[in-house]
Amino acid sequence: MFRSSAPVTASGFRDRTSEIARVLSSFEALQAGAPRWLALVGPRKVGKTSLLLEAARRAPQALSVAVVDVFERAPLDLDVFRLFAARCIDALLDEEMGGSLSRRLHAPAEVRALLHRAPSLRTLDPGLRTDLDRLADDEATGDTVRRWLELPEELCIALDRTLVLAIDEVQELMGLTRYFEPFALMRSVWQRHQRVGYVISGSAPSVLRELVTSRHSPFFQHFHLFELGPFERVDAVELLVEASPPDRRIPGALAERIVDIVGGHPFYLQMVGEALVSEPPPYDDATLKPVLQGLLFSRTGRLSLYFHNEYARLVGHAATLAATLQAIAQEGPVRVTDVARTIGASTASTVRYIERLGDAVQRDDDGRYRVADALFGTWVRWRSPGGTVVPMSIVGDEAEQRVARILAELGFDLVYQSRASRGAFDLLALRGPDQLGLQVERAPFPLRFGKREWNRMDADARRWGWHWVIAAVDAEGEVHVLDPAKARRGREIRLGPEAGIDNLLRWIDERRSAEWSG
Ligand SMILES: Nc1ncnc2c1ncn2[C@@H]1O[C@H](COP(=O)(O)OP(=O)(O)O)[C@@H](O)[C@H]1O
Ligand SMILES: [Mg+2]
Repeated sequence: MFRSSAPVTASGFRDRTSEIARVLSSFEALQAGAPRWLALVGPRKVGKTSLLLEAARRAPQALSVAVVDVFERAPLDLDVFRLFAARCIDALLDEEMGGSLSRRLHAPAEVRALLHRAPSLRTLDPGLRTDLDRLADDEATGDTVRRWLELPEELCIALDRTLVLAIDEVQELMGLTRYFEPFALMRSVWQRHQRVGYVISGSAPSVLRELVTSRHSPFFQHFHLFELGPFERVDAVELLVEASPPDRRIPGALAERIVDIVGGHPFYLQMVGEALVSEPPPYDDATLKPVLQGLLFSRTGRLSLYFHNEYARLVGHAATLAATLQAIAQEGPVRVTDVARTIGASTASTVRYIERLGDAVQRDDDGRYRVADALFGTWVRWRSPGGTVVPMSIVGDEAEQRVARILAELGFDLVYQSRASRGAFDLLALRGPDQLGLQVERAPFPLRFGKREWNRMDADARRWGWHWVIAAVDAEGEVHVLDPAKARRGREIRLGPEAGIDNLLRWIDERRSAEWSG
């Protein structure tokens, strides 16, 4: 089964064998008394949370793991540290308490009642016990935050347990600098801990890298940097094949083609797989085209909306940033001087724009820039002027690309439609209110059609109110748009160059007015 709306674990979790081993070995190190902290760094949706949750699931019995997402505390304030402490207590004691403390933090009496149920807390040192009991009461201040950061370690010592606290989307804690420097405080408390190990994880790669590798950072030299990237090609192909239901198997060859197009990012693979297997089998290139069109190259597609969100976050209302990103997407890998020329800015300004694009843009060894996430770059090209030909250049053949280019110049947007809504046609061309069904032919003149095939196109076009034409692409790659009304009908239907439409826009206009007057 494909899953793209939540992190995956257990049987939904794939690949990542060495990554899981690496996390688990840090758990073992902690148990052996040599804590090793990890900083898990990777782009959004690459599988960080899934990896943390799956590692937690596979952790040795004797070790407890608490995973907290900083986004859980929104709007963010110092209370997030209360949540960290509560989640640690949950990880250690939720079975004994028969409930979750972190869910009841708004109700101090219930928190005390839950703690009261845990047999292992009965012999606890009274001071520590009082601090636990007060967890939901005290106001969040610098002092209480320090205390909450201390609690898990003290509790582990008292209970003779070990625990890992994994803090997801940790870069968000930077929002707390209006109160105090959170990382300095965390470091100063955590650095003495022997029973609790720490994993931080986040999707602002350069920010996190800086946080753990910069000399000036409080976390300097405390964390092992652990970069998580997309799946390797074989694993990506395997995900597509094996996550598809047995009666809706995605063939290996098509899976390879999908990976060629979308890359190894597991989230993209899951979305494409999910959309593909919701179509009736069998699956081939012809099924893939409209699926990608609907998912990625349309205003309302899920992947398109996701990228739109990323885009808005990245460029906001800054036209200069949008232009820079577009130039890099269209021309990349590209030198900064060429980007500057395209956007009409100075090299110095362009360098600053590129800097502001941050992790979205990547600098190759030869100094050229490209969009780091190739599929996002493709999407940016698609939404740029003239970008409606991008889908055909990604999944279409030479003939479709030529037809798309010619029609785009006339102001049409070309789309691949699913079999159910394109009927007999390969492509649909849209221009304002006009809809034009297109059949692309690659054979030499005269083109020949069987009566059934022809009548189906005619009937489909009538039913949907489309105009329709044949687009013939000859051996030289020239496109001839042919008027079906000029066909010669005999036992079969033939169409020669004399059926050519010189001016497609006028042809459509004439037909439209004929419809109105007729
Ligand atoms: N190991 C994996 N196996 C299969 N799918 C995965 C895996 N990791 C991530 N995914 C897919 O990617 C999506 C995003 O994963 P998630 O762990 O939430 O990413 P992150 O925390 O990095 O943003 C998941 O919903 C799932 O569809
Ligand atoms: Mg996540």
